[in-house]
Amino acid sequence: MKNRDTFSSQIGIVAASAGSAIGLGNIWRFPYMAGKNGGSAFIIIYLVAIILMGYPLVYTEFAMGRRAKTNAVDTFGIIGGKKTWNSVGFLAVLTVFLISTFYMMITGWVIYYFYHSLTGGLYHISPSTDSVTYFKSVFTHMSSSMGIPLIFSMIAIYITALINSIGIKEGVEKYSKIMMPVLLVLFIILIGYSTTLPGFSQSMTFLFKPDFSVVTPAVIIGAIGQAFFSLSLGMGALITYGSYISKTENIRKIAKQVTFADTAIALFSGLLIFPAVFTYNLEPTAGPSLIFISLPQVFLKMPGGRWFSVLFFLLVIVAAITSLVSMLEILITYTIEKTNWTRKTSTWVIVFLTTIGGAINIAGEGPLSFVQIGGRTIFDWLDYLTNNITIPLVAVLTAILAGWVWKNVHLNKELEIGGTPSTMLDHQFNSILKWLIPPTIIILMIALILGIEA
Ligand code: PHE
Repeated sequence: MKNRDTFSSQIGIVAASAGSAIGLGNIWRFPYMAGKNGGSAFIIIYLVAIILMGYPLVYTEFAMGRRAKTNAVDTFGIIGGKKTWNSVGFLAVLTVFLISTFYMMITGWVIYYFYHSLTGGLYHISPSTDSVTYFKSVFTHMSSSMGIPLIFSMIAIYITALINSIGIKEGVEKYSKIMMPVLLVLFIILIGYSTTLPGFSQSMTFLFKPDFSVVTPAVIIGAIGQAFFSLSLGMGALITYGSYISKTENIRKIAKQVTFADTAIALFSGLLIFPAVFTYNLEPTAGPSLIFISLPQVFLKMPGGRWFSVLFFLLVIVAAITSLVSMLEILITYTIEKTNWTRKTSTWVIVFLTTIGGAINIAGEGPLSFVQIGGRTIFDWLDYLTNNITIPLVAVLTAILAGWVWKNVHLNKELEIGGTPSTMLDHQFNSILKWLIPPTIIILMIALILGIEA
């Protein structure tokens, strides 16, 4: 086998992994999921899920990847000692492929909004027009057509592919080390403004004062699914990045930093978006269109709003691209190792396939939106199936594999390489993999499938 590339520094690994984790999941999905599911109660369950399930799975995926030093599919077989485990890895890789097809569509929408904020076209509205109707029509006009979203989502995937095609150290790592600080600066500017809005205190109440009466199994699994999606778990992303981590790095430490960064950015996204929503009396429950229909109304009313709009959509683009990079990397690493094609060829083959998938999603929102099953479009189905079924399933099987088959001694051995001896607390986190994650998620999934709502 050819020499595998490796990340060159700890900061590079953290930047790339946090770049993978921080994405549309934090800025677009988290606020609308929290908004739709009662705000604070959802957020508390999400935080518990992050600490008790997310963090242990983050270091487990890294450790599995570094141990096996191969693509996500074969990692499962190597760690499990049997080829049948590869099917779990395959499900993970299939999941990330399906996600990348709608992720590129939404990133395309974001680039469209960025472009039209920059030209000012987005805010060309006559004083007599109602702004709600106007922004709804802008969104519908864009998302229901074929050509425009396709072109913008292709821009997204091509930028991504250019980075991947260079390689891990010189492409993924270098780019992440530039983009993550940019993201942070944009964030701080926008949050700074947001805290000055009159709706800030109302949104603090909405986000942090819990109302548990709204909690159902569907809300719980929604929050756990959100935690996994946001940390890029259950899709082979951290396994793949782990396979490029050298034996001198402290995996537990990296896992803590990545988990912390991702969670902080999700919460801050809530603080960025909801004050504006409350200040201008918009609906926090708007759903996926929250950042496309609600927020532009805010930008319209704000002094200098157009430039905030430019910065905001730029922020989302940066976050989304580093996530897309990690998605493609999973597929590319797998392709390279299965076919022996070069990185360049593998990259463009994957781009081709993803673009076809993206076009199907775009058509499903646009010209083919009449094709609905159970009231859901293709994108709705993919989002639902991956977040509620395949991601939790892969996560449970990963926990079972690491906790019961690979066993804690081996997991610990890998974690201690480049790190420090395991403490009592570390051991307790490992037991979570065995005793907490599998039964909790299995019970919730059964409840969800049986349609138990109480
Ligand atoms: N974690 C990313 C986000 O929050 C999404 C992602 C999923 C990235 C799978 C990589 C792999 O947007």
